[in-house]
Amino acid sequence: MNLKEQIDLTRLPRHIAVIMDGNGRWAKEHHQDRLFGHQEGVQSVRETVEGCAELGIGWLTLYAFSAENWDRPADEVNGIMELLVSTIRKEVGTLCKNNIRLHVIGEAEKLPATCRKELGEAIGMTSSLTGLNLILALSYSSRLEIVHAARSIAREVSLGLIHPEDIDPAVFNHHLFTAGFPDPELMIRTGGEYRISNFLLYQLAYAELYFTNTHWPDFRKEHLYEALVNYQSRERRFGKTSEQIKQDEPMVS
Ligand code: IPE
Ligand code: IPE
Ligand code: MG
Repeated sequence: MNLKEQIDLTRLPRHIAVIMDGNGRWAKEHHQDRLFGHQEGVQSVRETVEGCAELGIGWLTLYAFSAENWDRPADEVNGIMELLVSTIRKEVGTLCKNNIRLHVIGEAEKLPATCRKELGEAIGMTSSLTGLNLILALSYSSRLEIVHAARSIAREVSLGLIHPEDIDPAVFNHHLFTAGFPDPELMIRTGGEYRISNFLLYQLAYAELYFTNTHWPDFRKEHLYEALVNYQSRERRFGKTSEQIKQDEPMVS
């Protein structure tokens, strides 16, 4: 049985989040400069988006550029921004054709004007689409997002719009960049590092974490299926005991 056939379509995560890491090391291994690795990573994005859309996954968040990545050499940063513009321009037709809606989380105002324009147009063109929700995390920092949410709630309190006692996880969620999106149940990180790197710290509270040594430019649908099969082998207990979880499971006919 191939990997795809092993996936139980009734137990898919609603939301998958991916830290697309390893482009630079992949390029080095191929005796190329780092930018070549980022360029090759675009094919992995296509495969992952297509793979998720085909399976009927509702939400896919791709960590494409962190707030900390601005500190990289200017050539690399500029190259990534140009790649972002050309990729969105090239792929927006495919998004529309496949009923994929684009969203962006992060400090969009920090992106170059050409990038903001291209993204804004693609977001507008896909805003009424109802298939996969593709969320790009750009100039994204989870700590900044949380601080931003705290500031925005404090403002509402100071204006008398809400009472401090009314602040609960639902209210807090509403002030995050991800307001309205379900939390990811599965987080995949490629490139062999075992860390979160300031990605969705609040939202990943109960996500299953999957780490692979595969560098992002080598990531294909099969790797996605592998992560999903692994995800489905986990027992998600949410603080309960294994016995309780088994009792709660619906009877399989
Ligand atoms: C991830 O690959 C892409 C971005 C962070 C933009 P890296 O560029 O971090 O690749 P490595 O980790 O150096 O191999
Ligand atoms: C995380 O990768 C950010 C993205 C994949 C966009 P990094 O390569 O920036 O993370 P660190 O620096 O290794 O933690
Ligand atoms: Mg990296």
